[in-house]
Amino acid sequence: MKGGVGKTSVTMGLASAALQRGVRTLVIDLDPHADTTTGLAVSRGAGTEAGQLLKDARRTRVEEHAVRSGWLDLLPEPMRQSARLDVVAGSAMAATYDRPDLRPRDMKRLRTLLTGLTGYDLVLVDCPPSLSGLTRIAWTASHQVLLVAEPSLFSVAGTERTMRAIRMFSDEFAPQLASAGVVVNRTRADSTEHEYRLLEMERLYQDKLLLPVLEENAYWQQIQGAAYPVHQWPGDQARDLASSFDQLLRQLV
Ligand SMILES: Nc1ncnc2c1ncn2[C@@H]1O[C@H](COP(=O)(O)OP(=O)(O)O)[C@@H](O)[C@H]1O
Ligand SMILES: [Mg+2]
Repeated sequence: MKGGVGKTSVTMGLASAALQRGVRTLVIDLDPHADTTTGLAVSRGAGTEAGQLLKDARRTRVEEHAVRSGWLDLLPEPMRQSARLDVVAGSAMAATYDRPDLRPRDMKRLRTLLTGLTGYDLVLVDCPPSLSGLTRIAWTASHQVLLVAEPSLFSVAGTERTMRAIRMFSDEFAPQLASAGVVVNRTRADSTEHEYRLLEMERLYQDKLLLPVLEENAYWQQIQGAAYPVHQWPGDQARDLASSFDQLLRQLV
């Protein structure tokens, strides 16, 4: 729900881990800000963007409109041959569907679009920072929802509210939807407040708290700014981060 907690960063980290492991992945950028699209090195205007595909959901095959991620060009040659990472680009047009009063038929647009999809092992959907129409469209189409939270009071409270909203929503509209758990991001080892909130989250979420927790890491912004997959960035700091995403992906797929 919250902006800036790291939803997009986690999506990109998981996409990078999937690429490394040879998991054929489609990333759908439902956030009108389109940060994931930029981060995955897709230029604006490439392919058909998410809003248009949602509009044409009934008569469109998503495979024909997704764009190849520019990350593939950064892979060593033997990996590049077999790797698959495509992106449904985000853009402001998707915001048309970000209303609180969506009709059930609009809620099913992404599900309709993905029905019969072949050629991918994993689909990651990055959501905007709200529980409005687009996020509900994503829930309706998904098997699992992964929450990202910071170890702060407001974020813990917000995660609780989101979990309740997911339970209510799935009872009514999305019986297939399960919670994949909570990823904690931006922890600082030197913060007693963070330590306290982490203990609180362990107590609240128990086995739904995914490990490892992700630390605040200034390198990350550099890596994202360069539109690079973390697994291809040199240095120990990036290697640790990449390994964290390997472990998270293994728990999800
Ligand atoms: N663990 C982290 N360490 C350092 N910077 C981070 C971390 N996680 C996210 N950021 C940065 O914080 C900003 C917001 O993150 P983002 O993933 O875009 O959040 P959201 O998608 O939830 O709005 C980005 O600039 C990102 O690079
Ligand atoms: Mg985002």
